[in-house]
Amino acid sequence: METHVTLLTWNHTCSVGVRAMDDQHGILMDTMNELRQALVRGSGREQLSELLDRLIEFTRMHFWSEEQLMEQSAFPGLAEHRAEHHSMLAQMIQSAHRVQYGEGVQMRPLLCSLRDGFLEHIEGLDQAYGP
Ligand SMILES: [Fe+2]
Ligand SMILES: [Fe+2]
Repeated sequence: METHVTLLTWNHTCSVGVRAMDDQHGILMDTMNELRQALVRGSGREQLSELLDRLIEFTRMHFWSEEQLMEQSAFPGLAEHRAEHHSMLAQMIQSAHRVQYGEGVQMRPLLCSLRDGFLEHIEGLDQAYGP
């Protein structure tokens, strides 16, 4: 059975209360939606890899922005947050590697777990730094 990948919609419950970070989260979601659409259209490995690379580059930049922000405001949860960023990024890079070189990679479950990971992170640790 096929796993359905739903479109991500942006709503106020996802807001972390910092405008620039909300904007970046929106771009992350847009990029994940693009990936989903590419998947639905039946795009090849090369195109999916390219999109995944773009997602990773943007994620790297976004994580860095958040860490700068937390550093500047001496946020006490920085170390924990940074560690989670680190492991998320490592996981994404590993996934991208599998998509690029692996055989028979199941893209849908991969995309679903990526999406769930991001939503969980935004609604969890990210919402804690807002205030
Ligand atoms: Fe974030
Ligand atoms: Fe974060």
